[in-house]
Order: sequence, then structure tokens, then C-alpha cells
Amino acid sequence: MHEVRGVVARAKGEPVRTETILVPDPGPGEALVQVQACGVCHTDLHYREGAINDDFPFLLGHEAAGIVEAVGPDVTSVAPGDFVILNWRAVCGECRSCRRGKPWYCFSTHNATRKMTLPDGTELSPALGIGAFADKTLVAAGQATKVDPEASPTAAGLLGCGVMAGLGAAMLTGNVQRGDSVAVFGCGGVGDAAIVGAVLAGAAKVIAVDLDPRKLAIASQFGATDTVNASETDAVEAIRALTDGNGADVCIEAVGRPEVMQQAFYARDLAGTLVQVGVPDPNMKIELPMIEFFGRGGALKPSWYGDCLPSRDFPMLIDLYRQGRLPLDDFVSETIALDAVEEAFEKMERGEVLRSVVVL
Ligand SMILES: NC(=O)c1ccc[n+]([C@@H]2O[C@H](COP(=O)([O-])OP(=O)(O)OC[C@H]3O[C@@H](n4cnc5c(N)ncnc54)[C@H](O)[C@@H]3O)[C@@H](O)[C@H]2O)c1
Ligand SMILES: [Zn+2]
Ligand SMILES: [Zn+2]
Repeated sequence: MHEVRGVVARAKGEPVRTETILVPDPGPGEALVQVQACGVCHTDLHYREGAINDDFPFLLGHEAAGIVEAVGPDVTSVAPGDFVILNWRAVCGECRSCRRGKPWYCFSTHNATRKMTLPDGTELSPALGIGAFADKTLVAAGQATKVDPEASPTAAGLLGCGVMAGLGAAMLTGNVQRGDSVAVFGCGGVGDAAIVGAVLAGAAKVIAVDLDPRKLAIASQFGATDTVNASETDAVEAIRALTDGNGADVCIEAVGRPEVMQQAFYARDLAGTLVQVGVPDPNMKIELPMIEFFGRGGALKPSWYGDCLPSRDFPMLIDLYRQGRLPLDDFVSETIALDAVEEAFEKMERGEVLRSVVVL
């Protein structure tokens, strides 16, 4: 048993606190990881707000890199000393989706079975089965993906959630092709990664949409060819005007709001694709005339974690990063201490940061 610090959300809407937590030694199929860096993702805030589920208390943090400290008796995929990125898609290999050759949809992903707890024995619910705002965390071995140890943990950890979700929304779910026009709604860490993914995939036009001019300026640095401030103009009209009156081939919703999903739906060209990567609250609804869905053709696709397969995609993306082709460092607005997560949520809500990264 390891007594370490962890950032815990005790109740809906309550500020998070750094507390002492107990992390068990790894059992069969598990790995104990010494966390080096963990980014603050909007999904952590969704957990604190009770918008994901009610399984408080949560151990937050899920966008992390670190060093394997110990592994369970049967683990061969990683060993103590390995540099790993943590993932929330340790595929089972046995469910009906894995058996049909689509493991990125795995319906039965692995998490650690031994529980991390508070000192009084209360079980913690680790965010996305990870819980990495902590000095150490316990995960299923498949949740630790070994990558080039030359990469900086601060940058590498970002692939563990938001940046992978955005890159994959464009490159995998949206299947952006050379010459496509792409519109990205919401230019936080996820949306900017979608912009980078669209650029990597060869998009000819990448339109960034946000309400905040600071976010639009950053989106341009990441390769957006055009920007639309949706607080000043009708985003759908603006995107049509930028695409010869047609709309974009791929529209990516990276906010998680019904009005934005609606805009992304209507800003598509005929037969265009809408990718929804923003996470909605359970009470949100969208209403669409069926004829608009039918008549426009194309595809509406939710994207969880960018449809990534960590074992395939993380090492490849770290190689691109090491070659200077994937600007992971530019997503890091600031590095912070473990006890500054609550402050980082406030900065995120005020739109001041792309990613605050806890460095341990
Ligand atoms: N699907 C997944 O696998 C996955 C993974 C990680 C995060 N997410 C989700 O993606 C979303 C974005 O995450 P993030 O970390 O980038 O958040 P963020 O808060 O950093 O960014 C959100 C951006 O949206 C902008 N915005 C807000 N309202 C808008 C509107 N009406 N029109 C246009 N822009 C608007 C904000 O100004 C901000 O720049 C969140 O909902 C998060 O939970 C999904
Ligand atoms: Zn599976
Ligand atoms: Zn996340």
C-alpha cells in the first residue's frame, strides 16, 4: 500500500482538494505508475460538476505520463522503469467489437480491479478509470502505453486524452482527406488538436470557430486558415461564405453544446460529416427536422477518444512529435503544482488556458 497525495472531488460542484489517498500494489494484470505529468482536461471539471455520473468521491486526472514502478505477476507488456502514457482504452480483445476487428470501439475496456481509497477505506472512483492527479496511480497494464522516453512527460501526457481526442476526431472519426475543407467549433485543447489533425491529414481549408478572440488567435498558430468569431457573426453563414457557398466537408463539434452541434450540422456541405467530440450534459437535447438529416446525406458521428487505438497511435504520434511535426509543447499554457487544480479549472472556465499541466 502506498500513501500518496491525490486530487479528490468529494461532492457535486464542491471545490476539489488535495488529500492523502491509499494506492494498493498491483495485482494480476495491473501496473503501478509514478505519475510525472497530468493535464487538466474539461472532462475532469465535468466529473466535479456531477455531469458524468454520481459516483463521488472521484480521484481526478486522466491525461498523464509517467514511469512504471511495479507490475502484477503476469504482466509482460510493460516493466518497471518504462516510460508510459496512460490511456482509457485498454482493449479487451474478446468483446463483440474487438472480435469483429474494431478494437477502438471495445465495449469492455480494462481498468484496475484493486481499488484506490481514502484513508478511512472509502473507495475512490478514478476519472476515466485512471485518476492521475496523484503521485502514483494504479491502472490495468493495458492502460499504460510504452513510448520513446526521450519525449517530455509534460507534452507526452497530453496524448492521453484531449489532444488524442482532437487529433483522432479529424484524422480517424472524421477521416479528413487531402484537399478537404474542415470547420472546428471550439478552440480549446481538443478543438486545436482537431485543427492540427486536419492539417496533418492534408485539409486545404481549416476554419476555426470560437467565441473568444484569444482562442481564435491561437487556432491560427496551430494552422487554421480562417477564423470565425461566433459571438459576432452567424457561424453557419460565415462557413458557407468561406467555402464557395457550400459548407465544409467535415465539421467538428468540440464544445459539447446543443446550439453548437446544430451549427455544425448546418455548416456541412451535402454528404458532409459531422463529428461530435464535445461531451454533452445528460439533460441536453437537439431537435432536427428529419428531412434535413435525410436530405443532406453524409454522416453524423460521435467520437470517443478520437477512435484511437493507443498501442497503435501513441508511439507513432510521439515519433511525429520528436520529428517536429506535431507541436505538442504548444498546447501547454502553464505547468502547475498538484494543489493548483481548482485554480486551473477557474482559468479554464475564464478561457485563459489551453492546457494547465500538473507536474509532479
Ligand atoms: N470525446 C472525447 O473523447 C473527449 C475527450 C476529451 C475532452 N472532450 C470534451 O471536449 C470538449 C472540449 O474540451 P477542451 O478541454 O478543449 O475544453 P475547453 O474549455 O478548453 O475549450 C472549449 C472551447 O469552446 C469555446 N466555446 C464555448 N462556447 C462556444 C460556442 N457557443 N461556440 C464556439 N465556441 C465555444 C470556448 O471559448 C473554448 O475555447 C469538452 O466538452 C470535453 O469534455 C471529449
Ligand atoms: Zn473489446
Ligand atoms: Zn479528458
